[in-house]
Amino acid sequence: MASDIAVRGATVDDVDLLHRFSIDLATYEDEPDAVTSTPQTLARDGFGADPKFAALIAERADKPVGFALYTFNYSVWTAARGIFIEDIWVVPEERRNGVARALMVALAKECMAKDYRRIDLNVLDWNPARGFYEKIGFKWIRNWLPYRLSGEALQKLATGS
Ligand SMILES: CC(C)(COP(=O)(O)OP(=O)(O)OC[C@H]1O[C@@H](n2cnc3c(N)ncnc32)[C@H](O)[C@@H]1OP(=O)(O)O)[C@@H](O)C(=O)NCCC(=O)NCCS
Repeated sequence: MASDIAVRGATVDDVDLLHRFSIDLATYEDEPDAVTSTPQTLARDGFGADPKFAALIAERADKPVGFALYTFNYSVWTAARGIFIEDIWVVPEERRNGVARALMVALAKECMAKDYRRIDLNVLDWNPARGFYEKIGFKWIRNWLPYRLSGEALQKLATGS
C-alpha cells in the first residue's frame, strides 16, 4: 500500500545502501561495471561541506525499498534552479506499489518549497520506466538530443593532441 511508504533524506550513514542501489541500477541498464564511485567517495561528495548531490530513500516498515539520487541545475533563462535525477530505483519485489511515485512526490514538494522550476532526467530508449515517467506527467522532449564530451575526446580537445 502506498500509504505504508515513508520517504526520508539520505545521510552519510546510507552510503553503502546508495552504492549498492546504484550498482543494481547500472546492472539493470546493462552497464554492470559503470559505477566507479565507492561508499567513501559518496560520503565525501554527498555529505561534506559542499554537497555535489542529494538523495532520498523510500522505506516500507523501516526497510529501504528504493531511492532517488539527484543533482541541481540552473536555468539562466528563468533564473531558477532545477533538479536533475541521476538515479531512481525500486527493488523489483516492491514495484507497482507507489514507491517511485512517493519519491517523485517528495522531489516535487522540494521544488515547490524552494522555487525550483523543473525536474529533468535521461532514460534509455528501451526502458519501460518511460511509461512510469509519462504516467506521472513527465514529457519526452523530442527535439533535444543528449550530447556528451568525455574520455579521450575531452582530453584531445583540451590538449590539442
Ligand atoms: C521505473 C520504476 C522506478 C517505477 O517504480 P514503481 O515503484 O514501480 O512505480 P510506481 O508504483 O510508483 O508507479 C507509479 C505509476 O506509474 C505506473 N508505472 C510504473 N511502472 C510503469 C511502467 N513500467 N510502465 C507504465 N506505467 C508504469 C504505475 O502503474 C503507477 O500508476 P498509477 O499511479 O496509476 O497506479 C521501477 O520500475 C524501477 O526501479 N525500474 C528499474 C530501474 C529504472 O528503470 N529506473 C529508471 C532509470 S532512468
